Amino acid sequence: MVKQPIGIFDSGYGGLTILKEITALLPQYDYLYMGDSLRAPYGPLPFQTIYDYTLDAVRWFFAQGCSLVVLACNTSSAKALRSIQQINLPGLASGNRVLGVIRPTAEVIGDYTLTNHVGILGTQGTVSSGSYLLEIKKFFPDITVTQEACSSWVKLVENNEYATTKADQPVREHIQKILTNDPGIDTLLLACTHYPLLMDKIKLFVPDDVRIISQGNIIASSLSDYLIRHPDIREKCSLQHTVSFFTTGDTGNFDTHGTIFYGNAVHSRHIDL
Ligand code: DGL
Repeated sequence: MVKQPIGIFDSGYGGLTILKEITALLPQYDYLYMGDSLRAPYGPLPFQTIYDYTLDAVRWFFAQGCSLVVLACNTSSAKALRSIQQINLPGLASGNRVLGVIRPTAEVIGDYTLTNHVGILGTQGTVSSGSYLLEIKKFFPDITVTQEACSSWVKLVENNEYATTKADQPVREHIQKILTNDPGIDTLLLACTHYPLLMDKIKLFVPDDVRIISQGNIIASSLSDYLIRHPDIREKCSLQHTVSFFTTGDTGNFDTHGTIFYGNAVHSRHIDL
């Protein structure tokens, strides 16, 4: 059996914040990271487009030999994962697996809140899908969930403006809105893998008694559990400690910003989807 890398996908850089935690916890595996930077942001796009783009990405990973792909993107997880799992996977490669980030996050969100009031900060696509409302209800029916679509935040990150004063107003506006909508919130989930880059700005506007949760650690430990529980998939994964990066966008940009997101040097190769 030819051993294969694990595929990690995002619309752009955001998934690197997840990959960073995955490689810290599970350094023994090989990973292919691919960001569709050319077509990001996905958040404002119609359902069908997000689905088509995500399916393009999944096909690409399968063509590279990955049999396990993690959609490290809430928007793709919300809008495309279920259809890909149910409609496409059986015809494409029934032994392959595609995982998302929403369910594993919903499974543990109750561990963070004391007031049982949680705020979800996500893209327009993630918020409009209602996926977090549905998934959290399954695991924690007593939790009140309030959502806020932070429409301009991904662009601030993709444009490398997340640390500038340009980010202050849009960050303040959405934080104030969600905390006004439910003053009982004690836990704010960054339900977009791009948002951890805005953490310093977000902290400026969030009171100290409200916890801010990013998904990296959660997804890394859920992947670790998944591989323990699925030896058939685990045994297909190669173990050479390598990470390769691919982007549909400009490699120079991807490497400069990706290095900040990932925390280690990133050298990407260009691909067309
Ligand atoms: N990073 C992606 C997410 O977690 C979305 C970014 C985008 O809008 O493209 O939702």
